[in-house]
Amino acid sequence: MYVEMKEICKTFDGFQASDHVSFGIEKGQMAALLGPSGSGKTTILRMLAGLDMPDSGDIMINGILVNDLPGNKRGIGFVFQNYALFRYMTVADNIAFGLEVQKKGKAEIKERVEELLELISMEDLGKRYPHQLSGGQKQRVAFARALAPRPGLLLLDEPFAAIDAKVRRELRNWLKEMIGRVGITSIFVTHDQEEAMEVANQVIIINQGKIEQIGTPKEICFHPQTEFVSDFIETDRWIV
Ligand SMILES: Nc1ncnc2c1ncn2[C@@H]1O[C@H](COP(=O)(O)OP(=O)(O)O)[C@@H](O)[C@H]1O
Ligand SMILES: [Mg+2]
Repeated sequence: MYVEMKEICKTFDGFQASDHVSFGIEKGQMAALLGPSGSGKTTILRMLAGLDMPDSGDIMINGILVNDLPGNKRGIGFVFQNYALFRYMTVADNIAFGLEVQKKGKAEIKERVEELLELISMEDLGKRYPHQLSGGQKQRVAFARALAPRPGLLLLDEPFAAIDAKVRRELRNWLKEMIGRVGITSIFVTHDQEEAMEVANQVIIINQGKIEQIGTPKEICFHPQTEFVSDFIETDRWIV
């Protein structure tokens, strides 16, 4: 397993946001963490990224116990729901950010930024500023910025939530293709069942801080194991 969460618990002022959460993701897999708003999805990503500490339980990444390892040492890239690009930096500088932090050489940074601009099909837009981009373009830049330091794990928290429905569909196909091409292990958070089913090889369903079911999209649709899953997924919708 590339990522493992073992019996993770987390409370905020007595409210249990993660309740004995356990799951594993194999290398190269794209997992979707699917659940209603407030079910504890972001909390899990934040603990993986080292932005929050679990009260108990273990987090393993690439065979290493990372509970006490600072986030910037975990080899993780993060894409947030609302782009979070640096407004006063060009596209190229946004992408270069993580490499600058790592104090990479100028030539290496330039080469990597060009490679990533090409990957996201924005070769000619490196000098633009975020406000000169569409929502979809901004999210592609956010994706490139997260990938730049070659993380082993990519976390995406509702990356398309702020984008309108038509572009969102295009973008999720694009993302699936990109992630397949780069071959990076990723966890994609969404509250949209269709998005989860289309994008992921493995779906982890969470409700009220507890994992309800883990399986392939097919297994989840055809063999829901709990009442919650069968209601939430509207399983009949997928049988034609
Ligand atoms: N820093 C915090 N302080 C207090 N409560 C929090 C904090 N972060 C999350 N919560 C609570 O934990 C629950 C799960 O939140 P979250 O993980 O953000 O859910 P999701 O991403 O699935 O919408 C929510 O009820 C939320 O209000
Ligand atoms: Mg959230």
